Amino acid sequence: MLRRLATTAPLLLLTSCQGWQSALDTHGPAAQDLERLFWIFLAVLAAVWVLTNGAFLLSLRRRRPEGADPLATDPARERRMGWTVGIAVSLTFVVVLTFTGLSYSAQKQLFGHRDGILTIKVTGHQWWWQIDYEDPEPSRSFTTANEIRIPVGEPVLLKLESADVIHSFWVPSLTGKMDLITGRQNLLQIQADREGVYRGQCAEFCGWQHAHMGILILARPKPEFDAWREQQLKAAETPQDPERRRGEEIFLSKPCIMCHEVRGTPAGGKVGPDLTHVGSRRYIASGTLPTTRGSLAAWITDPQRIKPGVHMPLVPLEPDQVNPLASYLEGLK
Ligand code: CUA
Repeated sequence: MLRRLATTAPLLLLTSCQGWQSALDTHGPAAQDLERLFWIFLAVLAAVWVLTNGAFLLSLRRRRPEGADPLATDPARERRMGWTVGIAVSLTFVVVLTFTGLSYSAQKQLFGHRDGILTIKVTGHQWWWQIDYEDPEPSRSFTTANEIRIPVGEPVLLKLESADVIHSFWVPSLTGKMDLITGRQNLLQIQADREGVYRGQCAEFCGWQHAHMGILILARPKPEFDAWREQQLKAAETPQDPERRRGEEIFLSKPCIMCHEVRGTPAGGKVGPDLTHVGSRRYIASGTLPTTRGSLAAWITDPQRIKPGVHMPLVPLEPDQVNPLASYLEGLK
C-alpha cells in the first residue's frame, strides 16, 4: 500500500500541475509572471533548506571530545563562528530584500490595466457569477452567467463586484486571485495567449456552496468571438416545435420568471442567472453540471438536492411538465 502510494503520489502531483485549472500550466501574461515568481521562490528556498540542513548535519558530526572543559574557549574558533553567523545574516537580508523587490515588480504588472479595451463586469452571487458585457452603446450590452468568452490574445478588463458576501475570482491558468467585495469595484486585466477553455473557481469561502462556484473562460479567435457576441445580443427565439413551445408556456406560467430573465419574453427577473442563451453555455449551476436536457431536468426538479442551500427555490412541477421545460431551456442557444 505504502509502496503504491509512493509511486503514484508523484505522478498524481505531476498530472495535477497540468490542465485547464492550474497555476503551473499558464497561458496568460499575468499567470506567467506569477509562475516565474513561484519557481524563483521555490529554487531559492530549496537551496536555503538544503544549506541549513547540511549545516545541521555537520554540527551533529562534530562532537566535543569526552571530558573537555565546558568553559574552555578557542578564540580562533569563536572568530570563525562570528564570521559564519554574520555572513548567514547578511545573506538572509539579501534574499528577503530580493524577494520583496521581485514581488513588488510582479504586483505592478498584475494590477496594471489598460483603458479602452473590452470591459466585462463580473458580479459574485451566492453561488454563481453574473457576467455583464459592457459597451458604450447600451443596446450592445448584454448579460450572461458563469461563462466568460474573450477574444484570444487581447487584454480584457474585468470589473469585479459582489452582490452579497466576499468572493474571489481565480482562474489560475490566466491570472492571480482578486476579491469581489460588496460596495467596491476591483479591476483585473486578463489575457489568454492561447485558444482554449480555462476553468476558474471562487477562492474565498462564501458559504455553503462555495465549492460549487466554478467559472469558465473560453478564449476564442476574434471572428468567432464577434459572432458569438452578436448571437448573445439577440433575444431568445420563439420555439417552433410543440414540446418546446409547451415548455415556454410552462416556464412563463411559473414563478421562474420572478428570478430569471429570458430576453424576448415577459420573463424579466434579475435575481438569478439570465437564461436567454442558457443552452449555449457548457455548464449549469456555476460549473456544477454539464448542460444537457437530463441535468436541466434534474436541476429544475430539485435544485436543493444538487446544491443544498442554493437560493433557487423548489418550484412545484407536474411530472409531465419537466420534460417540456427542460427541452425549452436546453434549446435556448
Ligand atoms: Cu463565492 Cu466562494
